[in-house]
Amino acid sequence: MENFVMYNPTRLHFGKDVIKGLGKAVSEFGNNVLFVYGGGSIMRNGIYDQVMDQLNAAGMTVWKYGGIRPNPVIEDVDEAAALGRKHSMDVIVAVGGGSVIDSAKVISLTIPYHGTGWDFYSGRYKPATAVPLIAVLTLAATGTEMNPFAVVQNRATMEKLGGRNDLMYPRHSFLDPSYTFSVPGDYTAYGIADLMAHCLEAYFDDGDATLSDRFVFSILQEAIEYGPPLLDHPDDYDLRARIMYAATAALNRIMTMNGRKNAGDWGVHAISHVLSLLYDLPHGATLSIAFPAWMKVQAERIPDRIAFLGKHVFGVTTPDETIGALESFFSSIGCPVRLSQAGIGEDKKEEILQVMILNKVGGNYHKLSVEDYSRIIALCM
Ligand code: NZQ
Ligand code: ZN
Repeated sequence: MENFVMYNPTRLHFGKDVIKGLGKAVSEFGNNVLFVYGGGSIMRNGIYDQVMDQLNAAGMTVWKYGGIRPNPVIEDVDEAAALGRKHSMDVIVAVGGGSVIDSAKVISLTIPYHGTGWDFYSGRYKPATAVPLIAVLTLAATGTEMNPFAVVQNRATMEKLGGRNDLMYPRHSFLDPSYTFSVPGDYTAYGIADLMAHCLEAYFDDGDATLSDRFVFSILQEAIEYGPPLLDHPDDYDLRARIMYAATAALNRIMTMNGRKNAGDWGVHAISHVLSLLYDLPHGATLSIAFPAWMKVQAERIPDRIAFLGKHVFGVTTPDETIGALESFFSSIGCPVRLSQAGIGEDKKEEILQVMILNKVGGNYHKLSVEDYSRIIALCM
């Protein structure tokens, strides 16, 4: 077991009506609020009004930045940061899924900086301060609500990168499972695929951390047991709650801050970011395609590790059976497992390869060669 440091400062408010605590939480930081949200789902499901009620009752002055897109782009971050800088924001309230909260994290770093938020990703800007961030989560998937990561795209350089800074931990996160009732079936399934992929990235790291393995198996089992019934009963509070908590636990670093050599492998996420960047596919859908393909290439290198996963999670014995069981599960919840199912044909192979090379795709532990890229792309088709 490796040495480790564990740190997570996010105060998580989980359950029915937790939004009632938002006004008090915001008041800790001042009066000027930047309210960041996405493409309008929060208008349709009533969450916008509930948030505004809290901010108004707490006497806040509110500036709004809406329209953050799925697979968010740096231009929106820079525009929102300029607004925040101009009006001297005390606090940011981000209401949405991973795209909104990730954007808000980078906005929080960029407001005190007179440059583009991309400088944080390129290493030119080393943030020493950030505007405090409060998250209200509306989609169970990424774990961003309790971690220090943010993923943003730069279409000019053709990069989609994840950045980490401890300043990006939300100060408070509000998770009401009923806020996810309105998430459509496809995005509910992509969220399940994403949380499972986070378990697998942790599992395929280097190092002997048996308790982490058991956390991985438990969270995967939650997803496998409660994901399918949730898709049949999208308004079931308890099922929404189980999946929401599983998604938070899958990337609040409890599996990765504890005795492995890295903080997860993350090679499959690097592949998935290329597919989102090129074809604007939802994050979870790129993972359900890329993970089985990556595991097929790794099967000859780490057969025992894959079989150990299969034994504990699916009750099977061989690497092939394990990968087959994972692929069947993704298919059963309606996630694509081949690029052709997402409308991407063989003619795109070379384009994908070139962007993988440009993004230096690979994991912290399992490095990938250009030959591996070609094999993985072929297996994704
Ligand atoms: O934009 P709105 O109108 O809000 O609609 C969104 C969007 O169209 C909709 N939605 C969200 N909550 C809803 C809802 N629709 C109905 N009812 C609700 N309650 O869902 C769509 C997708 O939203 P998005 O935020 O893009 O999804 P997700 O939470 O999966 O976030 C994906 C992004 O997070 C990054 C991904 O790469 C991707 O850019 N990730 C962030 C991570 C992190 N910060 O730790 C780790 C992940 O591995 C991931 O890379
Ligand atoms: Zn992910």
